Amino acid sequence: MVTRIAVVADIHHGRDTFTKRGTAALGLLDDFIDGVNAGSFDAVIDLGDRISDETAERDVALQRQVANGFHRLGNKPRHHVIGNHDLALLSADQNAVILDAPMHTRSAIIGEHRLVFWQPDVSLTAERGLFLKDGDLDALEKVLNDDDRPTLLISHVPLSGHAQTGNYYFERNPGHATYAENAEIRSVMARAPCPLIALAGHVHWNTLTMVDGTAHLTLQSLTETFTTGEPAASTAVIEIDGDEFRWTVRGLDRVSVTLPWPKVKPQWRPVLNAFSDMKVDPTAKFASNA
Ligand SMILES: [Fe+2]
Repeated sequence: MVTRIAVVADIHHGRDTFTKRGTAALGLLDDFIDGVNAGSFDAVIDLGDRISDETAERDVALQRQVANGFHRLGNKPRHHVIGNHDLALLSADQNAVILDAPMHTRSAIIGEHRLVFWQPDVSLTAERGLFLKDGDLDALEKVLNDDDRPTLLISHVPLSGHAQTGNYYFERNPGHATYAENAEIRSVMARAPCPLIALAGHVHWNTLTMVDGTAHLTLQSLTETFTTGEPAASTAVIEIDGDEFRWTVRGLDRVSVTLPWPKVKPQWRPVLNAFSDMKVDPTAKFASNA
């Protein structure tokens, strides 16, 4: 049986800011919800940044308008995480009440597959990038170590540490694109017993990055224009079919990729030390072997 999941990221409902066409968000969200309701999906995932923050009062109204869209899904299982803009002026509890959905770190089972939603601190300022809070890493380690089933790990902020070359927002602000504790996160993921695929939003572009044998995907924002000139209208469909994981991004900024849905944890070799710290010159060795 094929498991099908619909995904949307960085809706950014509100005013237009930078290259985000926030004024187009509700219409595009309605199209997404209509498509899900007309199709056959086992779950819906929202990767956070539902709004562009303005004032606390206005943010409540914006979140409610987005929530009204999601509530049209009825009883279909839906899962949300909190993005930095959702948390700028509202609390996690306010987000949970308005969306009528949990926002803390948790897992969910769909058929024989596991979804893990990790909700570390996502607060940001212009000066200060992303840092974990006490307990965030322990929460990730605990939920990953609970189960050795293949797991889709979902967070707002990407965990790959991938390069931001060419990214409109983050090429010159890399500390706002991933956590300062990226090495520790990578280590927890590598030690976890469950094979993983990681999925995130936040960076407003589509990427696939392999780290230690784990595939990390990011999904373009629903309303981002920097890659296409118009709102990308990006939404994605995941199909897990036996040992295949199919990722298809629709809209103007399209991607289609098939990955293995790993049943066994990949084991990449630990990386070499810096060549300059090695007693034997490895480049000479490679040259003589070539
Ligand atoms: Fe965003």
